[in-house]
Amino acid sequence: MQKKWWMESVGYQIYPKTFYDSNHDGFGDILGIYEKLEYLNDLGVNLIWICPFYDSPMDDNGYDVRDFFKVYESFGKLEDVKKLLDRAHELGIKVIMDFVLNHTSDEHPWFIESRKSKDNPYRDYYIWHDGKVINDKKVEPTNWGSFFGGSCWNYDELTDSYYMKIFSNKMPDLNWKNPKVQQEIVDVGKWWLDFGMDGFRIDAVSHLDRDSFVDIKNAKDKYPLDWHKFSNLPKVHDYLKMLNKSLFTTNDALTIGEVGGQATIKEAIKYAGFNSNELSMVFNFDHNWCNNLFDITNPKKLKTNVVDLKKTFNKWQHAFKDNGWVPLNWLNHDQPRLMSQYGDYKFPLQSGKMLATALYLMRGTPFIYQGEEIGMTNYPFEDVNDFDDISSRATYTYELEKTPDDPVRALKVASLRSRDNARTAMQWNKEEFAGFSDENPKVLVNRNYKKINVETQLNDQKSLLNHYKKIIHLRRFSEFKDLIVYGSYEQIDIENEYIYVYKRIYEHQTLLVINSFSRKKQVYQLNHYDIKNIVISNYDKQKIKNQELTLRPFESIVFEVKEKL
Ligand code: GLC
Repeated sequence: MQKKWWMESVGYQIYPKTFYDSNHDGFGDILGIYEKLEYLNDLGVNLIWICPFYDSPMDDNGYDVRDFFKVYESFGKLEDVKKLLDRAHELGIKVIMDFVLNHTSDEHPWFIESRKSKDNPYRDYYIWHDGKVINDKKVEPTNWGSFFGGSCWNYDELTDSYYMKIFSNKMPDLNWKNPKVQQEIVDVGKWWLDFGMDGFRIDAVSHLDRDSFVDIKNAKDKYPLDWHKFSNLPKVHDYLKMLNKSLFTTNDALTIGEVGGQATIKEAIKYAGFNSNELSMVFNFDHNWCNNLFDITNPKKLKTNVVDLKKTFNKWQHAFKDNGWVPLNWLNHDQPRLMSQYGDYKFPLQSGKMLATALYLMRGTPFIYQGEEIGMTNYPFEDVNDFDDISSRATYTYELEKTPDDPVRALKVASLRSRDNARTAMQWNKEEFAGFSDENPKVLVNRNYKKINVETQLNDQKSLLNHYKKIIHLRRFSEFKDLIVYGSYEQIDIENEYIYVYKRIYEHQTLLVINSFSRKKQVYQLNHYDIKNIVISNYDKQKIKNQELTLRPFESIVFEVKEKL
């Protein structure tokens, strides 16, 4: 099997706006990341992914790019990025950035030109279409819905036509069929790789092609959202092969594509199989739905569907076992917090440690999302004005239309999955504003920062943060490092509803990873194994009697074992 540096890395995702404010303006910045590099190095990560910091009007927090070659003013300057890269590289930390290529901002010069007239040279940089006339009324070319609500077309008076935008109105979609667009994007990527970036997380990559413009039939909604209309269509692979050849391979870049759009395993292998010549890996979201988070009637009941979760991870681990590589991430900046989703509010420390052990000892490259390592939680939204995220506001409006007399319900639904949950200030210490900033922050700060913060946990050997450090250490420096990175993965007892057990095997070593997702006592039989050592655990004094292991709430334990013949 081929071996690559990024297979042996441990990644960490940074949302720059809320990571650390170095210049006292209440907004996170690039030099803020620079100042926290020692922290990241001490944590043990050696790869960071930074969410967009391009110049942008910030309609979607930087995913709406106004200038690919400039840094958004509040984030800093290009020199700051250079300084960050140099220091990170000195510390042995690789850096990848978000590469947004499905759309730009409507304030990008290409779009400003494109909308001017039908014969503008930039017209075909975007996807323009005339409207349909129904009953003497002009309507959108198709009834397709967009991810952020409403139609995926926006009307532009100037030329009396519609442009496509599968996200917000201010994010017009690029027309990838146009070779000039392809070349522009290659130039952008090349520029950043030459600047010193080690690769990209490629945003919304599965959406680069569109189906033919035909209405969705028998739809309940006015603008039904059907991912198939703009996800994982065949041309996407041609575009990626082109990018791979002219940009990624020639520059030895690490590339991880975001493939929402319900990419199947077969599709995923096409994107990121070892022989696909497209991407190094793909982020998928299958494991983000193995709970009843939408059931707002009883948000506190045990919500993880453990069997589903196991089947999901198993599916990806198996499909990629000889053919490719996967990233290992619980959640990201678009999802609610891990602790509020798969963690347990009664056993935060035990469940947090268990979740880290369960995922990050699998085969793949971990990506820890900022704040996950200290167990940050969802934000207690009290008002719709707390939402900064455009899609959370859209969800609220949509839910309120359903029950106009019940704004509390609408807020509750929008809050549960709100992307703003993951975008609150990083909790560094007990000081005002969680040590994120010393000025009034322009971002939300969760009130629980006095209890949940980096400084307190650094000083506590038994903290979640120190558990993350131990896991990372195991992956990178221990006698099991080759096993954890390159060993095989084998899941056992798949139908057990409470315990997630898998084995990792490499040459003469075997690890048995046992994780209880239960608040109640669980029992696990160890009679097939001779136990050599306890490698890591989240409780002291394991209870093993007559080859029977009794697991306490959310207990997690990793044994080095020898299988009995
Ligand atoms: C991706 C990003 C998300 C963004 C969207 C549009 O899904 O992760 O934050 O809103 O693409 O760029």
